[in-house]
Order: sequence, then C-alpha cells, then structure tokens
Amino acid sequence: MITLQIPATSANLGAGFDALGLALEYYNTVQMEESDQIEISADHPNVPTDEHNLIYISAKDLYQVCGKKLDGLKLIQHDQIPMTRGLGSSSACIVAGLVGANTLLGNPLNTDDLVDLAAQIEGHPDNTAPALLGGIVTAVFDGRRVHWVKQEVYTKLRFIAMIPDFELKTEKARACLPAEVSHKDAVYNLSRAALFSASLLTGKFENLRTATHDKLHQPYRMALIPHARDVFDIAYAHGAYAVYISGAGPTLMAIVDEENTYFSGKMRFSLDNAGLKGWQVHDLRIDNQGCVLL
Ligand code: HSE
Repeated sequence: MITLQIPATSANLGAGFDALGLALEYYNTVQMEESDQIEISADHPNVPTDEHNLIYISAKDLYQVCGKKLDGLKLIQHDQIPMTRGLGSSSACIVAGLVGANTLLGNPLNTDDLVDLAAQIEGHPDNTAPALLGGIVTAVFDGRRVHWVKQEVYTKLRFIAMIPDFELKTEKARACLPAEVSHKDAVYNLSRAALFSASLLTGKFENLRTATHDKLHQPYRMALIPHARDVFDIAYAHGAYAVYISGAGPTLMAIVDEENTYFSGKMRFSLDNAGLKGWQVHDLRIDNQGCVLL
C-alpha cells in the first residue's frame, strides 16, 4: 500500500485567472493499492465511494493512457482540505489518482506528462500544477499541454484562509463570468498578474494589494459570497498586505507578514463580532514540495 500527501492550493492569486496558483501546508493523505474491486473509505460522507470517485477516475485515466486496465482500487482517504471551498480539493484528488497510479505502474509517465494530464482532467492548470509540484506555479494551458514554471517560495508571509460555512461550486462560479472583456480590462489583469509573482518572489510585498486587484472574475464572484466585502475590509483593517478570492471561492485569502503576529486572533474576534462565527480562520504557509509519497 502506498501513501500520498497532497497539498491544498490557492489559485488565481487575484489577477492571474487560470494561470497562477500556489500550494499550502494543508494536506489530504491517500492510501492506495491495486485491487480486483473498488473499495473506498473516506472521512467525509460526501466523497463518492464508487466508480464516480475522482481519485479512482484519475487513476483509471492514467492506466488508460499507459495502455493498462485498472480493475479496481483500494483507497483510504483522509481529507483535511474542505470540499468546494476554493482550496483545490478536486485537484488534490486528481493529483492523488495520477501520482498514485503512476507509482503503482512503476512511473511510466514523467512530471510534464502528469502536469498535462492533470490539467486535461481539471480543465485548467492553476490548482492541479501546484498540487503536484508545490511552490508558486505559473502555467499556460494550450488545451493539451501545460507550459509551466515552478518557483519555490521562502518568505516571511503567511496565508490566512478565511473559509465560510457554505459551498460554492466551481461550475457556478465560472458560469457568472462574462464571455468577453475589454482590451483595457485585459491589460489591467495581465500587468497585475505579472506584478504578483515578481513582488512575491523579490519581497516587494507593498505591491501585493495592487497586484491582487482584478477585473476578470472577482467583481462577479463577490456577489456569490455573502459578507465577502466585510471580510475584505476587516482583513485590510488588521494590516493584511492583500486579500483575494481563493480560486473560485468562497474562501477568501489574506496575505500577512509573519510580524503581524495576532492577525488570525484579531480576524476571529472581528468575524465573531460581525456575526460571522461560521467562517473558519486557518493560518497557513506555502508548501514547496507538492505531492509526495510518504
Ligand atoms: N481558475 C479557476 C477559477 C480555479 O477561478 O475558476 C478554480 O478551479
């Protein structure tokens, strides 16, 4: 039986819609072995335990790509990453299925193949690539291949995930986006997406607030996340460098200096006072390893 650890991810990072994502020290673990039937156990009651399980589907895809047949799989899932909250839970399943299956077959596919296949299954690479690789990943998906760069990040920043007690499905959060945007808005975003990585990696953190502003998705998605504006305002009032919608939401992510020691406690206090007791606050750091075999 093999055991995999897969990190949560935060995609888009504001302006880098479908292009930027980073991995966080918040993990699912999956134990896996070949079997002649499907035997799946999971902590979470909403995880499918039949052929609709995403880890199983992804493993089967990899077997098929390698010309092998997968009769069944024994899976034991311990999921820390909350589902449908914008923290890459489906990408973690896809990556677990692919890396696990590749390991069981003796590693016929290389890292590039796995990055490509994961993006083909998910439809975009900004969660799948950092879940696999760790660090911050810049990725362009041409529909078949992913052109990517992974950069390890060693910073004094913390990422504070503010996770509400309601789901937001990615399909719904994508369906609310406009089919076309203006040239001006495209320039607004591409300049900020480039500024984000450069500022994060060089320590010019005072740029991060401007760098996370965007006109492609966040203005439309705010309406799907009740109290999002209040949470943004509270986080900025407590000194966050930047706040953005993590992935498709509804989690909101604050980027905070480690010297802002009491940020999480202050957020908790302010959220409670604002009647937002259902929002969880998680203090996370960047994971630079990605998916690993334990
Ligand atoms: N880039 C994706 C989106 C991430 O914002 O829809 C969520 O899967």
